Amino acid sequence: MNSTFELEFANALKSVARNQQIKSYIQHSKDLYPLLLRAAKRYVTGETRKDAVAMAQKLTKKGYLISTEFIGENTTTKKECLDATREFIRIIKDLGKHKLKSTISFDLSHIGLSVSKDLAKSNLKKMLREALKYDQGLMISMEESAKTNQILHIYQRLSASYPNLGITLQAHLKRSQRDIKRLLKLPGKVRLVKGAYQEPKDIAIARSPQLDKRYMSLLNECISANHPLSIATHDENILREVTKRNYMKKSHVEMEMLYGIRPDLAKELKNKGANVRIYLTYGREWYLYLCHRIAEYPPNIYSAVADIVDLTRTEKIPY
Ligand code: FDA
Repeated sequence: MNSTFELEFANALKSVARNQQIKSYIQHSKDLYPLLLRAAKRYVTGETRKDAVAMAQKLTKKGYLISTEFIGENTTTKKECLDATREFIRIIKDLGKHKLKSTISFDLSHIGLSVSKDLAKSNLKKMLREALKYDQGLMISMEESAKTNQILHIYQRLSASYPNLGITLQAHLKRSQRDIKRLLKLPGKVRLVKGAYQEPKDIAIARSPQLDKRYMSLLNECISANHPLSIATHDENILREVTKRNYMKKSHVEMEMLYGIRPDLAKELKNKGANVRIYLTYGREWYLYLCHRIAEYPPNIYSAVADIVDLTRTEKIPY
């Protein structure tokens, strides 16, 4: 695919993904729903907590670290946010009971931020108390730039009391160069990502060598400060550079990749002795997640079609 076509395809797919009528049609279609679920299984462990725990067990046995997210969207009522919080608490307990150590990853909007900052904070505190009991970490994901201030504010208020809480930082936002200074003064792990949201040019850098340079510069700042760091990218050049500089030998540094994306690279890095964390997701809201994985790398459409035709392919993801 050429890059103009890829961009147009990605934008079209993102619009389709956001279209509620199409989503509802798929969710109620007896034929389409199971077919697309086959393709989603490349990126999502399954629809239930049990699926996530089973995959966490499998990958932990192979020597990977684990992140787990219950995927959800559009939690705009207090009840939906409380339901999501309860589900996160259940997964914290289930992983703990199976003696699996994980980082539970979540959007603050999923547990309350879309309703109010206080609701998000109070639900987060419930999760933090449970996570401490079961020796799990929590990692706040970063959302669109309109929410960055609120998310950072909640993190800063809770970080000192809960060192098991970490925060995601988006290298593409220009403000991250300033935010990192404050984050390095707090105890929690920083997860460095490039950034997944479309943002205006004046506040963000698009995918480019300039963004990769910014990513490396933020990464180096965390390394110099000896700060707990998750290098969350599938960018082979960045990961090779990190390996070359021997950062992967540091016990507080890990590389984190989404389940189903570049398992070959994850395995290679793990076999070289790096701490490699695989980000697992589960839940019934897999449709948007599947569309995003294809939109960010359009050639994935071919594997999606192949996964729909041959059920066994997603059972053999080579970790
Ligand atoms: P980039 O997009 O430049 O891709 C580099 C290379 O990686 C590609 O050329 C391709 O080879 C490979 N690749 C990337 N995506 C692929 C795909 N879907 N399929 C196959 N190959 C692919 N974002 C955010 O805004 N907030 C957040 O909280 C998080 N959280 C998060 C956690 C973790 C563990 C990860 C790995 C990522 C996130 N992200 C995120 C997403 C992140 O911002 C970014 O959009 C994706 O990681 C893709 O960017 P890369 O860093 O991989 O580089």
